[in-house]
Amino acid sequence: MSPRSILIKNIHTLVQTDVGQGFYRAGRQMTDLPCLQNAYLLIENEKIAAFGPNQDAPSGIKEVVDAQGGWVFPSFVDCHTHLVFAEWRNREYEDRIKGLTYLEIAAKGGGILNSTSKLRALTEDELFERSGVRLKNAMKRGTGAIEIKSGYGLDVESELKMLRVIRRLKETAQIPVKSTFLGAHAFPAEYKNDHQAYIRIIVDEMLPRIAEEGLADYCDVFCERGFYTPEEADQVLEAAGKRGIPSRIHTNQFTHSGGIPLALKHKSVSVDHLEVCNEEEMGMLRDASTHPVLLPFAAFFMNQEYPPARAMIDKGLGVILASDFNPGTSPNFDLSLVWGLACNQMKMLPEEALNALTINPAVNLDIQDEVGSIAVGKLANLILTHAASELSYFPYALGHSWFSRIFIRGNPDFLT
Ligand code: NIG
Ligand code: FE
Repeated sequence: MSPRSILIKNIHTLVQTDVGQGFYRAGRQMTDLPCLQNAYLLIENEKIAAFGPNQDAPSGIKEVVDAQGGWVFPSFVDCHTHLVFAEWRNREYEDRIKGLTYLEIAAKGGGILNSTSKLRALTEDELFERSGVRLKNAMKRGTGAIEIKSGYGLDVESELKMLRVIRRLKETAQIPVKSTFLGAHAFPAEYKNDHQAYIRIIVDEMLPRIAEEGLADYCDVFCERGFYTPEEADQVLEAAGKRGIPSRIHTNQFTHSGGIPLALKHKSVSVDHLEVCNEEEMGMLRDASTHPVLLPFAAFFMNQEYPPARAMIDKGLGVILASDFNPGTSPNFDLSLVWGLACNQMKMLPEEALNALTINPAVNLDIQDEVGSIAVGKLANLILTHAASELSYFPYALGHSWFSRIFIRGNPDFLT
């Protein structure tokens, strides 16, 4: 097959153009968003081949997309999702409307454990099929790379089933997919009163097989009151570290749960949630290599205070935004909504939030050579918008459909 060349011309603004600045942005750099106005972009062989001022666009390219004053962004990178699950949990949503809390629902066997019993009942093929549909829908809303966690299996075979589904998604999705083992998401009902017995299963049975089959890029734990104590989480991360699996940590979603010092100890790549985060904890993160991942849709959905993004950035931290797509606390995979919430509720500037949705998570997932900015040689995973005159229009127009086309590996017809 001859290589496919596509020229996008008449781009109002080409955003996050990268001629060597594709590094993690922190503090004041979070407003740095290199852009080129009146631009063209050339795609060859699924990758970005060239870009520049519109008047320099190459001639003779047969396939031309006229952007008609639309903007081009690099696709979003979603570095925190639980996209592999069996069913929605809207009944629990009703319970919460009627006044029960997430922790009360979890304590009576709902929540994560509800997802666990549903997931255990599905075959790998059924789970793969349902998850594949969701991933495609996320890609249609501009996600061009994604991290996906296990954590609804909570026994050896079911956790492996989830991780194998993620591996099949990696092989078929056409976008970079990273896989995270979250066996320490909750304690399964069988081990409610014997936490150490379940931790032994994670350490002695799950992790060896996962490492042997190369099924996980990361290991995560839910360090939170009612879930894993810092000591229990430490045991899991210690064992993962010995097998060369780096960690990410769910922490500070509801309480100052102790996951931040733990992340520093294990040099975790991220601490995720941080709805509850004080000065001291922010100070700990300032000199660390651990990235704060903020999940404003989960805070919105759980009616919580939002993570203190503004204070973090003002203290020099570089933050990341992600969807936390899951059936319990964030039934949303659309990062354009996360962009809007981040600006409106957390007072992030549109540029800061876009860095937190593109280059920063790409660096976090170590896929900055493939995605996260507009650079020659990166995958042509792109969002083309309808016409707009300023960047702030996009987070402002929360819920509008401003997507005109989604390009995945240069394919301009992904939406159709
Ligand atoms: O990130 N906090 C823990 N895990 C998920 C929720 C999972 C669920 O309720 O199914 C989260 O919010
Ligand atoms: Fe999560």
